Amino acid sequence: MKVLVVGSGGREHAIVTSVAKSPRVDKIYCAPGNAGIAGLAECVSIGAMEFDRLAAFAKEKEIDFTIVGMDDPLVGGIVDVFEQEGLKVFGPRKNAAILEGSKAFSKDLMKKYNIPTAAYENFTRPEAALSYLETAKFPVVLKADGLALGKGVLICNTLEEAKDGVRTIMQDKKFGDAGNTMVIEEFMTGREVSVLSFVDGKTIRIMSSAQDHKRALDHDEGLNTGGMGTFSPSPFYTSEVDEFCKKYIYQATVDAMAKEGRPFTGVIFFGLMLTEDGPKVLEYNARFGDPEAQVVLPRMKNDMIDVMEACVDGTLDTVDLQFEDNAAVCVVLASDGYPVSYEKGYPVSGFEKFDQKEYFCFHAGTAFDENKNIVTAGGRVLGITATGSDLKEARRKAYEATEWISFENKYMRSDIGKAIDEV
Ligand code: AMP
Ligand code: GLY
Repeated sequence: MKVLVVGSGGREHAIVTSVAKSPRVDKIYCAPGNAGIAGLAECVSIGAMEFDRLAAFAKEKEIDFTIVGMDDPLVGGIVDVFEQEGLKVFGPRKNAAILEGSKAFSKDLMKKYNIPTAAYENFTRPEAALSYLETAKFPVVLKADGLALGKGVLICNTLEEAKDGVRTIMQDKKFGDAGNTMVIEEFMTGREVSVLSFVDGKTIRIMSSAQDHKRALDHDEGLNTGGMGTFSPSPFYTSEVDEFCKKYIYQATVDAMAKEGRPFTGVIFFGLMLTEDGPKVLEYNARFGDPEAQVVLPRMKNDMIDVMEACVDGTLDTVDLQFEDNAAVCVVLASDGYPVSYEKGYPVSGFEKFDQKEYFCFHAGTAFDENKNIVTAGGRVLGITATGSDLKEARRKAYEATEWISFENKYMRSDIGKAIDEV
């Protein structure tokens, strides 16, 4: 069969790598893809938001199955467009992708269906938000309602900071229309875990857990980024936590969406905080995490197409989702200066030793220059993933493999997976 993957990051490279393992797949296209994806798929220069062009391309090439990796096109309704054209596509429709697209929606959903999350209020007027803050307990968390590249969350320690935050989000519109509505939320403490799942509208199958490292610098300092590294599984995701989430969070979310007339098909990413009062939902995403996908997918035993097709067909209850009894660590190689400002266009070398079995080099921000050499083209350049029999081995191997790659401006955190040493 012919498969089209929509997106261009490390997550999409991990998805394409899994799809390429399926004996059912003869040909993969990726729009727009990147220099690494080009080794496995034919990259097509159509942007992820060009829904009509993408659907026309899928029809022309007789694509059997399309997988959408990114949040923007999902929230924008790409799945609806493909379905209207009679094309088979993996991902939530627009009315379900709102689970990620609107934080106010997701908070109201959790409240209505008693799914554990931080206490909150939604605001559409800055004056109302400002007067609420006068009596709030600090720290407090401000969240722009819509998509903001993971940057629309402000943790404010004082009233002054919070007032500035309201101005930034709702009046200066730093995150554009994403800030038309704002959530003010109770600050929670605890360890964070990412849990990805496949969903077919009714049934949910949980993948192995993972942990991201969102801050740019070692010791979780510096600015929030898209993610500087991940490991899977998380040793903090115990069977007790799993049991609690199965009882109060996972199926409850799927059922709530169905009851609201918004059946969810695709991947739900549960961002959880393990608080003293038990696990609570920090956020939902309507797609694989990036770089969570780079550690979870290499460990998945199932044929990716089988699982995704079962989601679209509503037969996920027949799927036995299985993961290797091993571990994986991903260290992101970024351009120094990310996420603020950085130079790009530098040649990258050292790809030869990655065997795609225990060592993976997932491309995030790479492109070809006019001489067909691979050059840096983004803040996050590569995700270096290694698997091992346990997390410590995987971490040692991942850091070993980061040394194989050279480019000017190469920057990475040196403490990805440090939390492993605490268990
Ligand atoms: P989100 O995009 O909602 O996941 O928020 C980004 C990051 O902000 C999370 O990964 C947390 O580290 C932090 N965060 C979000 N909400 C809260 C909260 N209620 N309490 C503490 N930290 C939070
Ligand atoms: N790594 C976090 C995300 O994909 O949103």
